[in-house]
Amino acid sequence: MAYAVNMQETPAVKAFFDPATNTISYVVKDPASNACAVVDAVMDIDYAAGRISYENADALIAYIQENDLKLEWLIETHVHADHLSGAPYIQQKLGGKIGIGENITVVQDTFGKVFNEGTEFQRDGSQFDKLFKDGDTYKIGEMTAFALHTPGHTPACMVHVMGNAAFVGDTLFMPDGGSARADFPGGDAGELYDSIMKVLSLPDEMRLFMCHDYGPNGRDIQWETTVAEEKANNIHVGGGRSREEFIKFRRERDAQLDMPKLIIPSLQVNMRAGEVPTDRDGKPMLKVPVNAI
Ligand SMILES: [Fe+2]
Repeated sequence: MAYAVNMQETPAVKAFFDPATNTISYVVKDPASNACAVVDAVMDIDYAAGRISYENADALIAYIQENDLKLEWLIETHVHADHLSGAPYIQQKLGGKIGIGENITVVQDTFGKVFNEGTEFQRDGSQFDKLFKDGDTYKIGEMTAFALHTPGHTPACMVHVMGNAAFVGDTLFMPDGGSARADFPGGDAGELYDSIMKVLSLPDEMRLFMCHDYGPNGRDIQWETTVAEEKANNIHVGGGRSREEFIKFRRERDAQLDMPKLIIPSLQVNMRAGEVPTDRDGKPMLKVPVNAI
């Protein structure tokens, strides 16, 4: 499939790092207008207390307002398992459309069962404003962006390419961080390898922006690299590691990882496009399924 790559457009990218979840959110500005998109906004939660707040989302909102930007899109690279999405809160204040990959329906079906949701929980992705297919293009002001389907970490993962900037979600980490896990329900190490190869087939100079960084070996947090750097130096897939070697390595590694601290609240909220579920009286309420994940 031919994708709408345009390396001539250089959007301004502002990163926001959340130390509580090691997530990086972005505001991406069209170079030719004041239009912008938000990628992977975070909503804060103190899970022990069941308390939600909006420091991260408010910082993005303040930046957009101070710079007189017009928010057109709120992109979710996937259903995150380690943080809650701040997209609906930002949408309420600034507008814009919330978009995710069309395979959100697969994720909703899987976790609708895990959380024993009733029929009121729609599994058709209708909580989102836009469901992207592989190769779908959309506009941020004058700039053309497109979505690249990159399953493996989850079935709904998409990399979003905006001019010469690609937001890789959880396909890749920085070269010294490697790749994301592939053991969540619907994940697949072989698919993840193929998706990473798809990302690395973008032009060498494409700027890559990470969704997470954990500062391996004590280095400072980083979030930007290039296709060329990942191809040369990625510790999991660089230097010509084979698909078979990657699958074996990834499976062994994943078997040793603990579940993300916030997976239980994150999935319930993010599969609803960032809305907190409610109980039968309409009160915001989260569940903990026992021995189900
Ligand atoms: Fe993720």
